[in-house]
Amino acid sequence: MTTQTALITGASRGLGLALARELARRGWTLLIDARGAEALAAARSELAGETRVIALAGDVTDAAHRDGLAAAARELGGLDAVINNASTLGVSPLPALLDYPIAALEAVFRANVIAPLALLQAVRDQLKPGARIINVTSDAGVEAYPGWGGYGASKAALEQLSNVLAAERPDLRVYWVDPGDMRTQMHQEAYPGEDISDRPPPEESAPGLVALLSGALPSGRYQARALPSRPAPDEASGVRETRVALTVADFDRALAFYRDGLGLPTVTDWSSGETGRSVVLAAGRATIELLDEADAAYTDDVEAGERVAGPVRLALEVENVARASERLRAHGAEAPRGPVHTSWGTLTQRLRAPDGMQLSLYQPDPDAKGEEA
Ligand SMILES: NC(=O)c1ccc[n+]([C@@H]2O[C@H](COP(=O)([O-])OP(=O)(O)OC[C@H]3O[C@@H](n4cnc5c(N)ncnc54)[C@H](OP(=O)(O)O)[C@@H]3O)[C@@H](O)[C@H]2O)c1
Repeated sequence: MTTQTALITGASRGLGLALARELARRGWTLLIDARGAEALAAARSELAGETRVIALAGDVTDAAHRDGLAAAARELGGLDAVINNASTLGVSPLPALLDYPIAALEAVFRANVIAPLALLQAVRDQLKPGARIINVTSDAGVEAYPGWGGYGASKAALEQLSNVLAAERPDLRVYWVDPGDMRTQMHQEAYPGEDISDRPPPEESAPGLVALLSGALPSGRYQARALPSRPAPDEASGVRETRVALTVADFDRALAFYRDGLGLPTVTDWSSGETGRSVVLAAGRATIELLDEADAAYTDDVEAGERVAGPVRLALEVENVARASERLRAHGAEAPRGPVHTSWGTLTQRLRAPDGMQLSLYQPDPDAKGEEA
């Protein structure tokens, strides 16, 4: 598996740190920054327990700092993702537009609009093919909240900049994302002296960003908390996902077979890796069936007419066995015999995939249902 690398700006606290923690747990290599060196060093040493991290203290509005980030990105072998998260609220308490000090407004635009684009320009040669860019924006960029004009206008500019970049670079995935209200230092600055404890923590928005970084959603505007995140772990076992990892001799053929033949959506794509290639495909609910040798032999006998499966066989419930097996045969599957009505109430088609894997495609037996009715 190839390690993925992300540059996250403003990762010493708030949303940036919550995202860095999520990615570290998944083994991403991280390049992070923030101006405050002490908080950044604390974040780095926490994250370094999980993954490789380079932390560079500096201000994203500073060209020399951005060049330093680009050099570090080169050292890491390139970037799979850039998350422009660092941002400034501007003057607090939030002034009305006609009272907004212009020098302060310019500083807001430098941090929230110019710096994210300048950073992308600085690292453009370090972006790996198909790299993802997340520009963190805000609902203040699209709604008219009194007092939020300076910050909101800068986020609106960042949104349109992202929109045009997505059109100019269809080879990248460009996301502009509203994380929703979060209980962070920036939010507290917007509401000085007020109790913001009812706002959700940034940990509730970070999984949406992970979904964008690991899924296959098209470029566009997203709301982080509306994105499907990873399922909660099963309460009893703590297991979140069961993944069957198949080592295949012909990767492209297997990809065509499982992804295109079965129509399985890609969850994570590591297929351009330098150390090897892999993809993760969504394949419905995962379960583990344990069966003894006698039951395995009986199942093989019913479905295939002889004992053929090794220690692992994939059993996939599909909508329509005939259609699914036709598609898989077009991708090189071989069928020992036609579909069978099993004694356990399924219509099952056994197939042998080009990689040798035994597949049972099954659906509830339509004839058995007819008899019941
Ligand atoms: N909190 C909300 O309710 C909310 C709502 C909508 C959108 N957002 C957006 O969500 C993102 C994250 O915000 P947050 O609430 O997590 O903010 P936060 O808790 O204040 O964290 C901001 C992070 O960015 C860093 N940073 C700020 N200015 C920087 C600069 N010029 N150069 C480098 N690093 C800088 C900060 O560290 P230093 O200060 O040490 O540099 C810190 O690590 C921002 O883009 C924000 O606009 C937040």
